[in-house]
Amino acid sequence: MLTVGGMRADILAERYGTPALLLDLAVFDGSLSALVDAASAHGIRVSYAAKALLLTALAKRLQTRDVGLDVASLGELITAERGGIEAPRITLHGAGKTDEEIDAAFVGRVGRLVIDSVDELHRVVEISRGRSLDVLLRMNTGIEAHTHEFIRTAGDDTKFGLAPRDEDAVLAMLRANSQLRLRGVHAHIGSQIFDARPYAANAQALLEKLDRYRRAGFAGADTMVIGGGFGVQMHPESPDETIDVPAILAAVAAAVPHGVTVEIEPGRATVAAAGTSLYRVMAIKRYAKRTFAVVDGSMADNPRPALYGAYHHVVAARKSDAPYHPVTVCGRSCENDALADAPLPQDLRAGDLLAFCTTGAYTYSMASNYNRFPRPPVVAIENREATLWARRESIEDVFRNDV
Ligand SMILES: Cc1ncc(COP(=O)(O)O)c(C=O)c1O
Repeated sequence: MLTVGGMRADILAERYGTPALLLDLAVFDGSLSALVDAASAHGIRVSYAAKALLLTALAKRLQTRDVGLDVASLGELITAERGGIEAPRITLHGAGKTDEEIDAAFVGRVGRLVIDSVDELHRVVEISRGRSLDVLLRMNTGIEAHTHEFIRTAGDDTKFGLAPRDEDAVLAMLRANSQLRLRGVHAHIGSQIFDARPYAANAQALLEKLDRYRRAGFAGADTMVIGGGFGVQMHPESPDETIDVPAILAAVAAAVPHGVTVEIEPGRATVAAAGTSLYRVMAIKRYAKRTFAVVDGSMADNPRPALYGAYHHVVAARKSDAPYHPVTVCGRSCENDALADAPLPQDLRAGDLLAFCTTGAYTYSMASNYNRFPRPPVVAIENREATLWARRESIEDVFRNDV
């Protein structure tokens, strides 16, 4: 029987039901420590990107570590607060912040606000009513990277960051509103990146922007945030899914002049590997050319395969000596929601458990109630003990807001 964090999958399934997201905290701690060690060797600061996964219990755990937190909504901010993370450690992001979120920054609930557009800056100035705030500018450096694709564009392909044509207007506004203290620049360039080149290119582009602002008189602008995006191995045998984060950070640090602080915001690389989703097989359907296994989860609890073809390695929890054959693992939603194609034992049957690996990031946080399915629980495992971090939604939770 498969074990997760030293605990048997069948026992966990019995106790918490399926589907369930299991989080192995030793793996989480290991991933976070590896990133912090690689970064601190070069004076680089780490903020965890809450969008990957945030729960109150996780925020409490992050509170004890020397890391910041990147939040992108009031919900993420309040979760951070419930976890006891102090405001100076929190940076507020978002491509379209609400007035309430902007006001939260001015009342001291975050350390910094990242301005994403000239229109947003107008609202920030209006809402400030003279109150002061540290701000970063999200830039559009035109550098985009996803897995093994690295492209330089004029920036037309991304909604994130200041359009280059607005940069002068933004600087003029910041000059006229000294209550907004420009602390630096930011650019996040993509996800599942394994290539060092886009990081170097992005750092170079950000340095040029920073240099320009410092020469324009913003002496306090001394920070460069290069975002997250560090790739995570999804397939246990893939030779392509390797990344040398220490080498990337060493190269970025070497290119940065004295007096400039670099920061990173890894989400996926911190939490993805710690997560395993457990499902129960509901039905096997054998056709001449294909075998389907329908599981008790769906694209509602794991939207990433349907959303952008994310791959998850799938293993049967019960050990079997039967030969393996290709199986399409599907969810039970009213979509053709193939969750994975996986080699699985021919004796796989209804009632068996399947584990989807590397589901810690952007799985629970992106889950929905499609088909009015309740969201699964999150169970943290540490020292062979399991603790509920998020309850399974009840059916009442699903229609709680119906009027
Ligand atoms: C601004 C920002 N920072 C950090 C991240 C985290 O990226 P990842 O989880 O790939 O490390 C994201 C992801 O969307 C982001 O938008």
